[in-house]
Formats: sequence, C-alpha cells, structure tokens
Amino acid sequence: MHAVASYEQEFQAQVDADGRIEPRDWMPDGYRKTLVRQIAQHAPSEIIGMQPEANWVTRAPSLRRKSILVAKVQDEAGHGLYLYSAAETLGVDREELLDLLHQGKQKYSTIFNYPTTSWADVAAIGWLVDGAAIMNQVPLTRCSYGPYARAMIRVCKEESFHQRQGFEAMSVLANGTPAQRSMAQDALDRWWWPALMMFGPSDTDSPNSAQSMAWGIKRFSNDELRQRFVDATVPQAEHLGLVVPDPDLSWDGEHYRYGAIDWAEFFQVMKGDGPCNRERIANRVTAHDEGAWVREAAAAYAAKHTVRTVGAPA
Ligand code: 3HC
Repeated sequence: MHAVASYEQEFQAQVDADGRIEPRDWMPDGYRKTLVRQIAQHAPSEIIGMQPEANWVTRAPSLRRKSILVAKVQDEAGHGLYLYSAAETLGVDREELLDLLHQGKQKYSTIFNYPTTSWADVAAIGWLVDGAAIMNQVPLTRCSYGPYARAMIRVCKEESFHQRQGFEAMSVLANGTPAQRSMAQDALDRWWWPALMMFGPSDTDSPNSAQSMAWGIKRFSNDELRQRFVDATVPQAEHLGLVVPDPDLSWDGEHYRYGAIDWAEFFQVMKGDGPCNRERIANRVTAHDEGAWVREAAAAYAAKHTVRTVGAPA
C-alpha cells in the first residue's frame, strides 16, 4: 500500500520533471483545489468577456468589422466551454460553477466589468485585453495539469487573431480623422490600467502564486508577466502615435517602468463594485434562462440519438 508520502514524492517529481498530471493521476487535494479555483475564475472570464464587445456587434462600422467581431465573440464562448470541460475533469459540476456565477459568488477577470462606450473600445479590447490574455495564457499551455494546458493551446491560437485584429482596428482609428484619433486615445486612456490589473495583484500581495509556481500551474509571477506586457505594448502605442496614460512611464534601458496601479480600484471591482458588475451578471442570468430550451432540446436529441454499444442496456 503506497504511503501518501510516496505518492506526494512521485507527484512532485513528475511536476519537477516538467511532466503532465492527468485526471486519473494521484494529486494532492490542494493541487486539485487550486486548479478548480483558477479554472473556475478563468472560464467565466471568457463567458462574461463576450458581453463588452457583443455590445457593438449591431453597431460595427462595416460588414467586415461585424464579421470579425462576431467570430471573436463566438471564439470566447468556445474558450469558456473548453475551460468548463477542463474543470469537469477535476470532478466539479459545470452547473454548480454556473450557479455560483449567476449568484454573483464567482470571481472572473475584473477587466470585463468596464463599459464599452465607443467602437474604439472594441479595438482596444482586442489589442490590450487579448494582448494581456495572451501574455498570461501562453505560459498556461505548459501548465502541469494536462487538460488545462491542452485547452490553452487552441485558446492562445485564437487569442493571437483577437489581438491582431484589435491592433489593426486601433491603427485604422489612430491614422484616421482627428475625431477617430481622439476616440482611439480615449479608449487607450480607459483600458490601459484595467489591462495591467488583469495579471493579478502584485507579487507581494498574491496569496496563491508561490504554491501555484511550485506546482507548475503558474510558470511566471504576476509582476513578471505584467512587465512583459508593458514592455511589448508601449512600443506598439508609440507606433500608433498614441500616448500611454502613465506620466511615470520611463525606459530604464531594459524595461518600461510604470506608475502605481490603483489597487483600491482593482479590489473594489473584484468585490463586485465595478462599473458593470451587476449588469454583466444580470445579462448572463437572462441569457442562461432564455437559453434553457436550447439545452433541453440538445439533451433530448442526444438521449434519442445516443448510439448504444452492443449488449448495453436499452
Ligand atoms: N480579476 C479578478 N480576480 C483576480 C484577478 C483579476 N484580474 N487577478 C487575481 N484575481 C484574484 C484571484 O482569483 C485570487 O482570488 P482567489 O484566491 O479568491 O481565487 C486573488 O485575486 C489573488 O490573486 P493571485 O495572484 O493570488 O491568484 P492567482 O494565482 O490565481 O493568479 C491570475 C491570478 C493570474 C488571474 C490567475 O488566476 C490566472 O492566470 N488565471 C487564468 C487566466 C485568466 O483568468 N486570464 C484573464 C481572463 S481570460 C481573458 O482575458 C479572455 C480573453 O479572451 C479576453
């Protein structure tokens, strides 16, 4: 009979050797709990993340922009489904996770609680929010938990398209009429700091990072990925001729040093008191309720057309 200690050793040796932990493998309860915690926050971020941009589908400035936006919003729905499926491999029930979200008891990325007041916001979300998401999600393709890492591979491929279309839309505005340029600058002013908050609290205030990194769930710290994002994005803003809304931003020869993040705002939005938290959940609950008939029809179809293996009870 294996003592737990040797299971622990085998598990940690597998993680330290950059191996993958699969659903049927032994894993510490804390590892399972941390993954459920993180994926349960990640999946609804994708689902709620559909709303800010979907707000502009009917008002996109051209058929081309509309078709790109519809494809992107649809991708986000798929990302949410992959992630809920990854969570289910850890033994959690998708409906329970959705109930927590609908009751306002499930965290999701604060960034999606800000309003999209102009078309330039759709461009800024693609460029900045999906850009930050890529920075944070590419390392997750090497996460120690197999189903999560594999879900991230397709997500990241689609995110690259999201980020590129956003930057291209931002470039059209930044090189457009004075009114379009000021729309682009206004969007950058409003989305820059919430995008930096996407990487989580500073490393000194992150209760989960150390253990997540020891378990190979997190490959880099919140501040490391935030710094990478700033270093990659500031030159892009300069290329667009836009000004990053940070008077303390400076280049020190290696990195762009940025000003203080308003953590009070971050924790306020995380607590549910952001500009759109209540609206986002209300929309989500309405969509879930109004979509019940689709789920029932799909379940009925599946039950009727499930191919039974020979000898299986009818
Ligand atoms: N919004 C809301 N909550 C956040 C947050 C954010 N931006 N950043 C951190 N938090 C929460 C954490 O969930 C944690 O709360 P909990 O302990 O109650 O679960 C707490 O703040 C402390 O943060 P930690 O840094 O200790 O927590 P983590 O180690 O989990 O790191 C994280 C936070 C980096 C966001 C990590 O959870 C992660 O990588 N999550 C998966 C990726 C993700 O969610 N990306 C962003 C949204 S997806 C997206 O952008 C979709 C795209 O298509 C647009």
